[in-house]
Amino acid sequence: MLKASVVRTIPLYRAASALRVSPAPCFLGAISRTSHACLNTLTSNQVREQTLKEGTLRPGANSSPALTKPDEVSTVPTMVRGDWVLFHPVYTPEELKDVEILHRDAKTFSDKLAYSLVKAVRWGFDFVSGYRHKPIPPDSKLTLEQLRKGGYVLDERQWLSRILFLETVAGVPGMVAATLRHLTSLRLMRRDSGWIHTLLEEAENERMHLMTFMTLRQPSMFFRAMVLGAQGVFYNLFFFSYMISPRTCHRFVGHLEEEAVLTYTRCIQEIESGRLPEWASMAAPTIAIDYWRLAPNAKLLDVIYAVRSDESTHRFVNHSLANLDTNTDVNPFALREPDMHIKGKKLGFERDEAEKYVQESHEILQQSKAEQAAGSK
Ligand SMILES: [Fe+2]
Ligand SMILES: [Fe+2]
Repeated sequence: MLKASVVRTIPLYRAASALRVSPAPCFLGAISRTSHACLNTLTSNQVREQTLKEGTLRPGANSSPALTKPDEVSTVPTMVRGDWVLFHPVYTPEELKDVEILHRDAKTFSDKLAYSLVKAVRWGFDFVSGYRHKPIPPDSKLTLEQLRKGGYVLDERQWLSRILFLETVAGVPGMVAATLRHLTSLRLMRRDSGWIHTLLEEAENERMHLMTFMTLRQPSMFFRAMVLGAQGVFYNLFFFSYMISPRTCHRFVGHLEEEAVLTYTRCIQEIESGRLPEWASMAAPTIAIDYWRLAPNAKLLDVIYAVRSDESTHRFVNHSLANLDTNTDVNPFALREPDMHIKGKKLGFERDEAEKYVQESHEILQQSKAEQAAGSK
């Protein structure tokens, strides 16, 4: 069932829009939230006035609001803030809490290599950023200031630096893998078995994490230079590694995402225990409210829960893909993905589970087609 064939993959692709649907059509919703639903009936001056009143366009900025970028993080003009993003999940409150810290034991040589590389990357990053996880002594009476000075906890600024840097790197693997699979498909003139979209979704999802956290801080030139260097090195290393062994690369990302889940879980714990007071009551950035369809009064904490769920999805997807034959197997998530009650608590599908999942997707598809045919009679 998992082996890609023209017969199997074509109907699965065609059905993608039927099963993998973004939960809410947000484009119009987002526009109406910015009170620009009746855009066509307003003169450009009225639009500009309205935009200025809402504080979204700085006075003196370009007088073409439909093309103006309202701030340095977003290249999205406020007026068309909407859902041009790829498929991504929207979580229920229960799903957000259903994420566990998990670690997959390395079994093969390639697994061990991937995990060792993740440990090396983590160590290097901790060393450069001066981070070490120092457990707070039990029954500690230290104040927050003392805990920060003693290196037990990070402050909001340190957390943000760490998160921003990690997210600039995390967006690379999905794009590299998608690029290489795209090129393979062109070169060999055959279909890709549904992997490219899932990988692109992951890359975009990571970039949206970055865009979200960028609204909280403008990084320094030094920080940007570090990102530039890291991207140059990591992109090329990952590119050549993926050409040699895609499975090892997916395993590497799976382990990297285990670390991401751990990092965001610690961040959530810090906020909930009052050790990041500035973030405890901070409102969610608008970009995050749009992307994860959060409530208008959502907090930054809600955003971090959603980000952690995304990381858990990446963990699940990449460990599952690493269990497949990357040349011949269909991507089991081309049509649908398990919900967070599975993705948050399981490291991934083994190959036989993936095969069963594809079979189920096929049956759902057949059933849906039968129902449609019956309805149109
Ligand atoms: Fe991320
Ligand atoms: Fe991730």
